Amino acid sequence: MILANKINLVLLGPPGAGKGTQAVLLKKAYGFLHISTGDMLREAIKEGTSAGKAAQGYMTKGELVPDEIVTRAVIGRMNKPDAESGVILDGYPRTRVQAESLDSSLKSENRSLNMVLYFRTSEKVAIQRLSGRRLCPKCGKNYHVTNMPSKIEGVCDICGVSLIQREDDNPETVKNRLVVYEDRTKDLIDYYEKSALLREVNGDLSAEELFEGIATLFKREGLVDDNSDE
Ligand code: AP5
Repeated sequence: MILANKINLVLLGPPGAGKGTQAVLLKKAYGFLHISTGDMLREAIKEGTSAGKAAQGYMTKGELVPDEIVTRAVIGRMNKPDAESGVILDGYPRTRVQAESLDSSLKSENRSLNMVLYFRTSEKVAIQRLSGRRLCPKCGKNYHVTNMPSKIEGVCDICGVSLIQREDDNPETVKNRLVVYEDRTKDLIDYYEKSALLREVNGDLSAEELFEGIATLFKREGLVDDNSDE
């Protein structure tokens, strides 16, 4: 595992595009720090922090949590020492205001984004993935009932506990999350296209095919050492 540069990467795409799944694979292969705003917010809710209390209602309905709450959490995390050698931002930014806040925060630290990976994903695939997603409540491992099933149905391979469904993966909330993505986040494709950072990948591919494609892209763009053993 060798990184040519310290890289800061954004994963952009609709709910169910497979951003979290790829972030885990990329972290394993290249050692980036994975910052998932969804995970951070769910953790804050579990801990009962003020940010968690403020976020809960929005998340249950599939609405976006206010920009200032999310930005404070992300920037705070990015300023910790373990983020210096590169981060994968999964689920942030999601609005133009968040993208601008990220730009100015990175600039003030003499850092910048290296790439925005846009997972172009069909709605049919996204819905199929979200409706079948299952999670381990103990270790957080992500499964899918047909695409990535656990060895024993409904049981985590690692912890042996019963898998659960995310509260916002019910059909009504999924529908709203996809609408909110179209309304509030899709605009960022333009934003990053203009800054020449956007690279598109086919989110409908299998997790393995997608990872191969991203690894090839990283090499082609000189983001990782050509001899790295991803
Ligand atoms: P968040 O947790 O970020 O959810 P999301 O963006 O809706 O994305 P998902 O986690 O649902 O999908 P994913 O693309 O990561 O797919 P995954 O890899 O899990 O956000 C939740 C909420 O928090 C938001 O609605 C909002 O309220 C709030 N929030 C978060 N960030 C915010 C922000 N910046 N601003 C404001 N509010 C914010 O895969 C899905 C399933 O498919 C899994 O079962 C997986 O096993 C399977 N799968 C994955 N990849 C593949 C593949 N290639 N082929 C087949 N199956 C696959």
